Amino acid sequence: MELYDVMRTTFSAREFTADPVPDEILFTILDRARFAPSGGNRQGWRVIVVRDRRTREGLAAATVPAAKRYAAQVQVGESPWNTIVPTKVDAATIERTPAPPRLIEPVLKAPVILVVCVDLKVVASMDSELERVGVISGASIYPFAWNILLAARHEGFAGTITTLAAARESAVQALLGLPSHVALAAVMPLGRPVKRLTRLKRKPVEEFAMLDRWNGPPLRGSA
Ligand SMILES: Cc1cc2nc3c(=O)[nH]c(=O)nc-3n(C[C@H](O)[C@H](O)[C@H](O)COP(=O)(O)O)c2cc1C
Repeated sequence: MELYDVMRTTFSAREFTADPVPDEILFTILDRARFAPSGGNRQGWRVIVVRDRRTREGLAAATVPAAKRYAAQVQVGESPWNTIVPTKVDAATIERTPAPPRLIEPVLKAPVILVVCVDLKVVASMDSELERVGVISGASIYPFAWNILLAARHEGFAGTITTLAAARESAVQALLGLPSHVALAAVMPLGRPVKRLTRLKRKPVEEFAMLDRWNGPPLRGSA
């Protein structure tokens, strides 16, 4: 496939046909994804391939609490789970907000789930001493996760990077036997998508790229 086409059309698939994703295909996908960059080329990624029903149920259960809060915050117009603006939603409201099925069902129904983890013993977290949430560590694992979706696209499959279960990371560590220094980065349902999106909603360049400084003139051009 043409690279720009792949970049423009790799969407988040949450509904899948019954077609299996054989291990041979998964191997090919991971064999391409492993060329992702990581800080110091430490390649701290680990992948657990999940098909087992009870393990899926455990992952789904770990996803529910964060999904409830996500939905409750969206309902009142908040940007969910952000670390800057405190939520106005109380615990009781979150508790009675149902978890949206589209956030839970893929982990139960997709032909296969890839649990992408990262060994924090080898991740250089340059922002770990700043007084804000860390973002640098993610850069040593999410290019790999994204490469999985790009390779899956090339093979005719699709999936989603999901992170809600990370809010219950210790439950997932116990479920999968992960050591405590191995962080959960993504739970990725994967399969053959029921439909393919080709027009993804994204902001135009002028809305996020600026010249020389914050709020500088927008970078303009023609695509
Ligand atoms: C860091 C990250 C976390 C995400 N977490 C979830 C998630 O927990 N559940 C989910 O269904 N989608 C999740 N997504 C998928 C986003 O919702 C998706 O990328 C976005 O809505 C764009 O969708 P589109 O590519 O289909 O247009 C996540 C994506 C990223 C990059």
